[in-house]
Amino acid sequence: MVVFGGVLLLILGLVFSFLVISSAVLRWNELRYRKKGLPPGTMGWPLFGETTEFLKQGPNFLKNQRARYGSLFKSHILGCPTVVSMDPELNRFILMNEGKGLVPGYPQSMLDILGKCNIAAVDGPLHKTMRGAMLGLINPPMIRDHLLHKIDQFMRSHLTDWSNKIIDIQQKTKEMALLSALKQIASIETGSFAESLKIEIFKLVVGTLSLPINLPGTNYRRGLQARKKAVGMLRDLIQQRRESNCSQNDMLDCLLKNDGSTRSMLSDDQIIDLIIALVYSGYETVSTTSMMAVKYLLDHPKALEELRKEHFGIRNGKASEEGIGWNDYKSMRFTRAVILETLRVAAVVNGVLRKTTHDMEMKGFLIPKGWRIYVYTREINYDQYLYPEPATFNPWRWLDKNLDSHPYFLLFGGGSRLCPGKELGIAEIATFLHYFVTRYRWEDVGGNHIVKFPRVEAPNGLRIRVFDY
Ligand code: HEM
Repeated sequence: MVVFGGVLLLILGLVFSFLVISSAVLRWNELRYRKKGLPPGTMGWPLFGETTEFLKQGPNFLKNQRARYGSLFKSHILGCPTVVSMDPELNRFILMNEGKGLVPGYPQSMLDILGKCNIAAVDGPLHKTMRGAMLGLINPPMIRDHLLHKIDQFMRSHLTDWSNKIIDIQQKTKEMALLSALKQIASIETGSFAESLKIEIFKLVVGTLSLPINLPGTNYRRGLQARKKAVGMLRDLIQQRRESNCSQNDMLDCLLKNDGSTRSMLSDDQIIDLIIALVYSGYETVSTTSMMAVKYLLDHPKALEELRKEHFGIRNGKASEEGIGWNDYKSMRFTRAVILETLRVAAVVNGVLRKTTHDMEMKGFLIPKGWRIYVYTREINYDQYLYPEPATFNPWRWLDKNLDSHPYFLLFGGGSRLCPGKELGIAEIATFLHYFVTRYRWEDVGGNHIVKFPRVEAPNGLRIRVFDY
């Protein structure tokens, strides 16, 4: 009896100590970041904060926190004290007011791997210069006069030989987005150079989304090494282009031209970081949207039928080898609607990250200097007033009114960081869809699984069986 009582006391003692230690550890972050006037919320465990809950439960975790603390709450995610804003008004305000000290706040791994002149790493005058140089390369007249033709040529050759096979459309759209960008930027054709650069860029992309731990075997270390190799390859390319004196009529030509424009004042390092930014920013957004459009069209035969009608209408009267031109692209109203609806339903972009350059007040709360702000825009995609029956894939909704010009349309960001590649991205996806739906039919082979958070992806690929149309 006495022995039993002793064991019981020991167990109680252990449980008590465990509870005391855990609550002390859980209070650690609360105390570390304690300041008067912070938004409500919880800070989680030391170091990790609430990263596990955020990554595992994603949107549900954020919705639960909002139900408890309101649409502006504090947390500790991805290694930083963070304020999450799920307030549409405030989100707009944050995006529109970079000048008031709300600069991009992307993770260190991303900044290290994409380079210090990367557009997401700079603000103020250098951001203006880099953005101006970029807009000069990818604005609508450039798409009309140069890029659309290159995109068309690329898609026609990329989308050949797919029939009577099972293909992984995720892999195909990833290659498509990357190789198409390389062709537009530096006339790099599919071949050994493109293949080597592709391998490095794929590693670089994975590295940007990792913890910045520079140890052998980590994705971060592999990403840094890939950056080094990619930079070397791009430097050689610039050198060869200068020596050859031969015009290719591509973005690299424009960047190297000495015509007194802002872009001709960029250093080689800045040109290289600008090229990496162009490839990186368009890569995942364009590939994921194309993959998800294929998936939604398969699930919604009426939308596919309408899309086919639009594209066969465009092919009518064209020879089979004739590509699509600017007027064809501009006439693709339903295609554009399919792309916007895909971006909305799949939530390809969940939000953007900012950080404060000084202490500031928001909705009566203090946001300390250096804290991250997660401008979470995903919820607005499912707002039933803006998009009735929000869970339904309904491209027609974009045809009725100017849905893409309402103040809360943030699929491409907003303010001074509004996506400069919006039109180019849509043109690429539209051209991909043009050849895909006019050349092929496809069916699901089953067993596909898509994850929607933190990124939209099919962890084991998205396999479909393709036939000639
Ligand atoms: C469906 C396609 C696309 C989507 C949904 C998309 C979305 C976005 C979003 C939400 C932002 C804002 C990021 C922020 O505020 O921090 C952004 C910025 C940016 N996007 Fe896109 N994007 C797409 C395609 C492209 C393409 C094709 C390119 C390049 C060719 C591109 C280049 C950029 C660049 C350079 C920025 C940074 C702008 C700045 O910091 O001033 N995007 N994009």
